[in-house]
Amino acid sequence: MEIINRRARILSLSRKIRRENKTIGFVPTMGALHQGHISLVKQARQSSDVVIVSIFVNPTQFNDKEDFQKYPRDLTSDVAILSEYQVDYVFAPDEKEIYGEKFSTYVYVEGLSDILEGASRPGHFRGVATIVTILFNLIRPDFAFFGQKDAQQVAVVKRLTKDLGFDTEIIVMPTVREPSGLAMSSRNSRLNDEQRQRAAVIYQALKQAEKAFEKGERNAHTLEKIVREKIQSEPLAAIDYVAIVDSESFQQISEIEDREALILVAVNFAGVRLIDNIVLNSRQ
Ligand code: PAF
Repeated sequence: MEIINRRARILSLSRKIRRENKTIGFVPTMGALHQGHISLVKQARQSSDVVIVSIFVNPTQFNDKEDFQKYPRDLTSDVAILSEYQVDYVFAPDEKEIYGEKFSTYVYVEGLSDILEGASRPGHFRGVATIVTILFNLIRPDFAFFGQKDAQQVAVVKRLTKDLGFDTEIIVMPTVREPSGLAMSSRNSRLNDEQRQRAAVIYQALKQAEKAFEKGERNAHTLEKIVREKIQSEPLAAIDYVAIVDSESFQQISEIEDREALILVAVNFAGVRLIDNIVLNSRQ
């Protein structure tokens, strides 16, 4: 496994791989790897000839300086983990290598970027779209792997991939959960054991709504209420939003009927921002 820090090296390498008619599977990450990332890496390994993982804590997607500074970083341990999963290349540039002097070009996906997660974290999806575009341009992957937990990010990435004409298939893998049901996230490491257990209330709330849906409830307001009430029963949880949206447009809907929909939740839990979602009427 080779660790690459320079744009020029990863660019020439990806050119070489394509000349050899090999496929590239790419897993973009910000490090602090957990089982959620590993599931993406394993899928990439299965579907592609060459696997590239990037590790870059992207400053432009943090609207809060403290959140950026506090983001967990441990490159040595991440590299050790990746070496166990037959990853071929790790691209781990520093900030200057990506955002050089006078950097001033950003990618902004209209509409999708300003609602829900984007409304709570202004500029977040502009940062995500910009770094994903830079990485896709350098690596030109055949497949890129993302987790369902970040559903809105997936929608933004799919949109930019289509709009900017990248020849990359976006593969979305199911959310990996802790035994309690809490969605795996690098941010979970900021909670202590007890808080982590109690944060499972988020998934329990989503499951309650799913049960009601399975029993025939189609009214979004009623399902939303089920989620809210369950989460509000946990004193450590402060809800940012609970929303039921069409899975493609991310527009809020009032009746679910037979379209694919998402119940999205963002919660500030003991000072840590956690997001989760479930899919209703899954087309997969
Ligand atoms: O999901 C993440 O870890 C990040 O948003 C991504 C896609 C690596 C871009 O920085």
